[in-house]
Amino acid sequence: MQHIKRTLVTTALPYANGPVHLGHLAGVYLPADLYVRYKRLKGDNIIHIGGSDEHGVPITLTAEKEGISPRDVVDRYHGMNLDAFTKCSIAFDYYGRTTSAIHHSTAQEFFTEIENKGIFTRKTEEQFFDKKANRFLSDRYITGTCPICSNPDANGDQCEQCGTHLSPLELINPKSKLSDAIPELRETLHWYFPLGRFQGELERYVQSHDKEWRANVINYTKTWLNQGLNDRAITRDLAWGIKLPLETPEAFGKVLYVWFDAVLGYISFTKEWAAQSGQPELWRDYWQDPECRMINFIGKDNVVFHTLMFPAILMAWNEGRKNGLFNLADNVPASEFMNFEGRKFSKSRNYAVYLGEFLEKFPADTLRYSIAMNYPENKDSDFSWQDFQNRTNGELADTLGNFIKRSIDFTNSRFDGMVPSDCTPEEWKIPGIDWNETLEKLDQAFEGFHFREATSTGMDIARTANRFLTESEPWKVIKSDRESAAKTMAISLNLCYALALVLYPVIPETSGRILAMLGVEKNIDDQLAPGKSCIAQILTPQLAKGHQLRENSEILFTKIEDSELAPELKKIEGLLAQAEEREAKNEAEAMDFSPLISFDEFSKVDLRVATVLDCQKVKKAGKLLKLQVKVGSETRQVLAGIAKHYTPEEMIGKNVLLVANLAERTILNEVSQGMILAVEGNNGKLFLLEPAGNGINGKKIQ
Ligand code: MF3
Ligand code: ZN
Repeated sequence: MQHIKRTLVTTALPYANGPVHLGHLAGVYLPADLYVRYKRLKGDNIIHIGGSDEHGVPITLTAEKEGISPRDVVDRYHGMNLDAFTKCSIAFDYYGRTTSAIHHSTAQEFFTEIENKGIFTRKTEEQFFDKKANRFLSDRYITGTCPICSNPDANGDQCEQCGTHLSPLELINPKSKLSDAIPELRETLHWYFPLGRFQGELERYVQSHDKEWRANVINYTKTWLNQGLNDRAITRDLAWGIKLPLETPEAFGKVLYVWFDAVLGYISFTKEWAAQSGQPELWRDYWQDPECRMINFIGKDNVVFHTLMFPAILMAWNEGRKNGLFNLADNVPASEFMNFEGRKFSKSRNYAVYLGEFLEKFPADTLRYSIAMNYPENKDSDFSWQDFQNRTNGELADTLGNFIKRSIDFTNSRFDGMVPSDCTPEEWKIPGIDWNETLEKLDQAFEGFHFREATSTGMDIARTANRFLTESEPWKVIKSDRESAAKTMAISLNLCYALALVLYPVIPETSGRILAMLGVEKNIDDQLAPGKSCIAQILTPQLAKGHQLRENSEILFTKIEDSELAPELKKIEGLLAQAEEREAKNEAEAMDFSPLISFDEFSKVDLRVATVLDCQKVKKAGKLLKLQVKVGSETRQVLAGIAKHYTPEEMIGKNVLLVANLAERTILNEVSQGMILAVEGNNGKLFLLEPAGNGINGKKIQ
């Protein structure tokens, strides 16, 4: 039997704490589905494993806010998201849940294996404990008075009024959100994963994929590696999550950190898939056979969890083992973000278009096509209602849909719905199309994760086909040369078939409808089989003379009227206005001015214009410049932390603002007699204040 290589595709598990939106679809689930469908079309053995991430603090907070249980929250969103994905034709082989029994035992097994090898480190820290609830309180479960602005309702991690990041220990009068008990500090023990221990192995792993992985993935990962990897806490004091599989008192009330368990979901769900398909051990072929390739589709915000954390967990498992070793990912195609109408999607700010809602109004294939053409491969992309309308009306309806309908309608009306002629291999060489090249191009585009290119390759064929039919004018030619018109139609109908194949990954439902109209009995899903390349069918015409079409054509894509978009545009306008309002408010809040001073206090500061006579770097201090400045009849030495922003040469001759009555200070054995003024711009860049004017040296600012 022919050996068919296996591929395992995973997609980041969305939190079951809200509905997935178009940004998620564009970055992760659609690209993965395009890849999987193409590989199947090519005859590869591939499975797509995904599911819901059902643990983590945000889920328990949602539950508390709504007065329901975390279980209710995850049930709701798991169902909602699975439903939306199904409507969008995302062909998961399995869509699991991290609350399942198999997942809990898999994650615990990993913990135990690593614990038994003595790889985890432990650290004790002080944390607030609620005696009544009998629980340690994570940051978000504590409120109290902000030490900065006295807001009485500051959270344990941040004060929403003044924006300051806090630790619960900084709060004045800390209170528990769970009961009225006064929280008390207790020591708690946490398990840490020592990422640093795997630094070398991770570096070699990442390096071995240097050429193949996307630049953003490599760069991001290397930045982390270059900083040196630290221990990461992998336990939390929480009630919702996977319990530590230890009976000792110090493990009581602790669960695994959500990221430690979530990445292992890929493994658990493959096990569940295998069990469901009646071959419980089959999962090993995808995880433990070094021949199997693994591809993790993710968004850019998940990179280090997949290029460092997850591989390190697997390395820890593999350490010292002879068998049962896990494969590491071969590629981690992380996407950039797809924005919508010029703005980032944001669940917390409610700026989003949710997948399920979208599909109630418009067909999945129009969305899949438009989003594939906006795939954020190397940089953020932008999607808009206008773009969606243009692509649907211009490309799907006017080009693809129109070609298919004309081909079928004309054959029905003039040739009794029968393919009226053979199409020889010679005649299959249509001007503007080289089928071998197309096959090659598609393969490179899909295998290289270039999904925009893959999709436009299909649409280019539709354009060429449309032009071919229009220019051949069979409706005129038939009057004088029926045979020639018959040839044109045979070629066109075969082009319809080829388009159904080439565009199958992008618009699978439409592709099925095209084949049905052509009277092809087996649609593509039924034709797929490992080891058999369906896509290679484009190399030869598939419909022979005499083949009977189905009776009627149907419209493949309905055009989107402006009136249909009007309410959507209005909604977006509202959301944009809200976003702007919020930004303006944030800016206003960010202006946190210092406390008031009297005029007398202000006039104590003696500000003067000084001119730089000489300037040098201070050795041993990378940031400091040593200036000699003239202030009237005096010369002063001043140190300024501006060496990263100005060279000594460019300083000479400048007029600067000097605080002239500041007490002298000595820094690194150098005296500083005053301070010069500068302002910080974006990204920490400093700008000196440089007064301009004649005869101002030594003069007082007033
Ligand atoms: N739930 C995470 C998020 O939405 C992704 C988890 S990916 C997995 O950002 F690897 F952990 F599964
Ligand atoms: Zn505050």
